[in-house]
Amino acid sequence: MTSDTTGTHGAVLQDTTPDENGPIVELRGAGKSYGNIRALHGVDLTVFPSRVTCVLGDNGAGKSTLIKIISGLHQHTEGDFLVDGQPVRFGTPREALDKGIATVYQDLATVPLMPVWRNFFLGSEMTKGPWPVRRLDIARMKQTADRELRNMGIVLDDLEQPIGTLSGGQRQCVAIARAVYFGARVLILDEPTAALGVKQSGVVLKYIAAARDRGLGVIFITHNPHHAYMVGDHFSVLRLGTLELSAERSAITLEELTNHMAGGAELAALKHELAQVRGVDVEELPEADELTAPVAQPSPEGTS
Ligand SMILES: Nc1ncnc2c1ncn2[C@@H]1O[C@H](COP(=O)(O)OP(=O)(O)OP(=O)(O)O)[C@@H](O)[C@H]1O
Ligand SMILES: [Mg+2]
Repeated sequence: MTSDTTGTHGAVLQDTTPDENGPIVELRGAGKSYGNIRALHGVDLTVFPSRVTCVLGDNGAGKSTLIKIISGLHQHTEGDFLVDGQPVRFGTPREALDKGIATVYQDLATVPLMPVWRNFFLGSEMTKGPWPVRRLDIARMKQTADRELRNMGIVLDDLEQPIGTLSGGQRQCVAIARAVYFGARVLILDEPTAALGVKQSGVVLKYIAAARDRGLGVIFITHNPHHAYMVGDHFSVLRLGTLELSAERSAITLEELTNHMAGGAELAALKHELAQVRGVDVEELPEADELTAPVAQPSPEGTS
């Protein structure tokens, strides 16, 4: 917990001025139980501006639970969650969004038959004219969507085409550009490349890097250590709801990260079992002792 923020309005406002290079989002020993199921426990995670924090883990590891806490869908049941150094507890995703935390879900909330520009402004349409004759400012919305997509390097032939006709990768890119335009400081991407082929994944990774270069702190959830390593500055691996690895890019190689994802001990057991099966070549699989990569913790400096 940081400072006591009780008091009359205004008096505490200076305290909340974010440090430009400090963490935007921080979890300290955070956890979440659903009834008596403990989905997440003792997780530390720090999100800095202009950096990509990758969260990896197998199915059921707790990745979605983690981002649901940060995006305001669920509340943590243990530990601390801080935004700009202040403890928070969001009741709704709207509250997270008001703090600049935007989430792009895998099943994107788009309306397939509506044009690209219309989806770009969905729920935040530009209007013109005085009430009660206020109407949609279509020209300005089209122009802005076009400009914003180009600024991110996304070139679409025709913004009038229904968004449903775009590829999955292109739709992810539109969602990223949209979050950037609407002032996101933290962008959470839940497995944006999971359903994509190699080329489209590459395109999405490019825009993740573009969002980072525009100063956003990106939380990139993925199963894929190769994708993570291409853009990541920090890697956090979850296993059964706890943090198994938290390493800066300089402290870990792609090979070590891949081994962590594969699960050293489980892979060794699998190798032993497969060795009994005829026709399976286990020579290429690593030994258990080769799979214990160093566990590097991020330096706690600057996090009081
Ligand atoms: N609403 C819920 N009620 C009860 N248990 C839940 C709920 N949501 C998740 N869990 C449990 O919490 C654990 C973590 O789930 P979570 O969805 O966070 O994993 P994940 O890493 O996102 O997995 P995946 O890769 O399959 O998406 C699982 O054991 C899951 O069954
Ligand atoms: Mg999930």
